[in-house]
Amino acid sequence: MKNRITDILGSEYPIIQGAMRLITMGEMAAAVSERGGFGVIASSGLTGERLRAEIRKAKSLIDKPFGINIPIYRPNAFEALQIAIEEGVKTITTSAGDPVKLIKRVKEAGLRMLQVVATVEMAKKAESVGVDAVIAIGAEGGGHVGRDEISTMVLIPQVVDAIKIPVVAAGGIGDARGWVAAFALGAEGIQMGTRFLATKECPIAEAHKQAIVEAKDNSTMIAARKGYPIRVLKNKAAIAVRTLDERGASQDEINAYVDVISKGPDDDRENKLMSAGQVAGLIQRIMTVEELILGMVAEARVIAQNLGKTS
Ligand SMILES: Cc1cc2nc3c(=O)[nH]c(=O)nc-3n(C[C@H](O)[C@H](O)[C@H](O)COP(=O)(O)O)c2cc1C
Repeated sequence: MKNRITDILGSEYPIIQGAMRLITMGEMAAAVSERGGFGVIASSGLTGERLRAEIRKAKSLIDKPFGINIPIYRPNAFEALQIAIEEGVKTITTSAGDPVKLIKRVKEAGLRMLQVVATVEMAKKAESVGVDAVIAIGAEGGGHVGRDEISTMVLIPQVVDAIKIPVVAAGGIGDARGWVAAFALGAEGIQMGTRFLATKECPIAEAHKQAIVEAKDNSTMIAARKGYPIRVLKNKAAIAVRTLDERGASQDEINAYVDVISKGPDDDRENKLMSAGQVAGLIQRIMTVEELILGMVAEARVIAQNLGKTS
């Protein structure tokens, strides 16, 4: 299981828990890193003080490496990086913006940086400015997706062919089959978001977890294609956002609408935007992070050994 990605992350397995805004905090990241994966705290939407507290929480729980994710376009991106450096975080993932904005400080401080990309062009740019690896995300994935909606199956091998730094595959991976498939395409690591949402440790409402378990292959949709495309579970709120977007509503208007509807009760499955990827259809039960990671490791070994054998 050791390769260039485990070297960069310092983890046992090349499995990254994708950052999830206002969800993956210190405890969740610690639970994943403790079981051999690489947990990531999402800095998006946190004050500097809260981010520092979450990093300290993870450090108090584990002695293993974990990371933080910084969406680069956010005004507090540099502050988040500074906090990561001060708190001794060694590896960060960055998304939604130009890596050149942070790379100089990252390198000066000796951190490792993995940049989320959704096209070959973005991957080449990331490599050219000096990031250590890319996380190539297909449009199957939960949360924000690339505007060109390129799927993981076709994106990964093209990114692998275009750059020399290692590639982590994200979007649509939920079990060992997806992992082995991603490695067959040339990836050296995987990042999962939706699969980690449906774990016991994940601090989201039970109703959100249950909606993922009950989801079918076609239960998600991309809302706000014109604005910031985001993949969510299909429900009343998602359809309302898509309608607003198609009518040309501004991002501020859409955000204001989402703010209002998100104030409803936690168990309301129709009037909340719930980010999730298409892989939700594959997820049949809520399990612990330990069951998920160790189960995938055991199964991936069997699948890899039996590839191509006829029964
Ligand atoms: C609820 C949710 C929130 C997310 N928030 C972020 C985020 O703050 N930063 C980021 O880089 N990616 C974010 N993502 C993307 C994930 O980190 C990950 O790349 C994606 O979920 C992978 O696709 P999958 O859901 O098919 O596993 C989010 C995804 C979900 C489902």
